[in-house]
Amino acid sequence: MELKIFNDKQEVAEQFSAYFENLVKDKVEFHVALSGGSTPKIVFDILAENFADKIDWSKIHFYWGDERCVPPTDDQSNYKMTVEHLFSKIDVPQENIHRVFGENDPNPEAMRYANLLEINLNRVEGIPQFDLVILGMGDDGHTASIFPHEIDLWEAADHCVVATHPESGQKRVSITGKVINTAKEVAFLVTGKSKAEKVQTIIGQSEGFKYYPAALVNPVSGNLSWFMDREAASLLS
Ligand code: 6PG
Repeated sequence: MELKIFNDKQEVAEQFSAYFENLVKDKVEFHVALSGGSTPKIVFDILAENFADKIDWSKIHFYWGDERCVPPTDDQSNYKMTVEHLFSKIDVPQENIHRVFGENDPNPEAMRYANLLEINLNRVEGIPQFDLVILGMGDDGHTASIFPHEIDLWEAADHCVVATHPESGQKRVSITGKVINTAKEVAFLVTGKSKAEKVQTIIGQSEGFKYYPAALVNPVSGNLSWFMDREAASLLS
């Protein structure tokens, strides 16, 4: 596990974008699971602004680690956010964008997406392997859309599950722990003071840390990086 701590959210996004460019530059094909959230949104803006002509987007295949069960036109949609902040500004083939849901069918149907992953990705012991999984972490220690109140979903036998947001009850499709921990690279993007207590508990592995899904991210053979700003890392010794 590598901790990469920067001054602020903007610098986290800039440094992650440079890490991403470096990761993809010598690859023939690259499969990445994107995340929703405020920090990835800034990353997408930076990639679109500064890397549009520096990266060969035709070799990159985009997926999502989780997606809200809403239409692609809904402001809650991670797909919509990614189109607005990245795909609408770079030259990426449409066939490289692998949406969780088909056109206009945001039914909480996880198996379709699990099958899509199995068809498109190499598998390690039957588990689809991403080149990179980008993750955020909620103030409650959730990651992707596996929340503490449904932490059993992390160990689900399936590669994708239907999860429920603890407050809104919104249904979401999320990849599970097996897929996340099979990835070659896993990168957390965690910023802001509200994350500091969970970062301390999870990275410091203090009492009860395993109650938080983000604490269960532990790639079998891949690399794990935490990209954080000083606020999120402020309680780390
Ligand atoms: C989502 C993300 C979610 C997010 C965290 C952190 O679909 O919203 O998958 O897990 O990463 O809630 O979000 P922030 O980066 O905005 O704090």
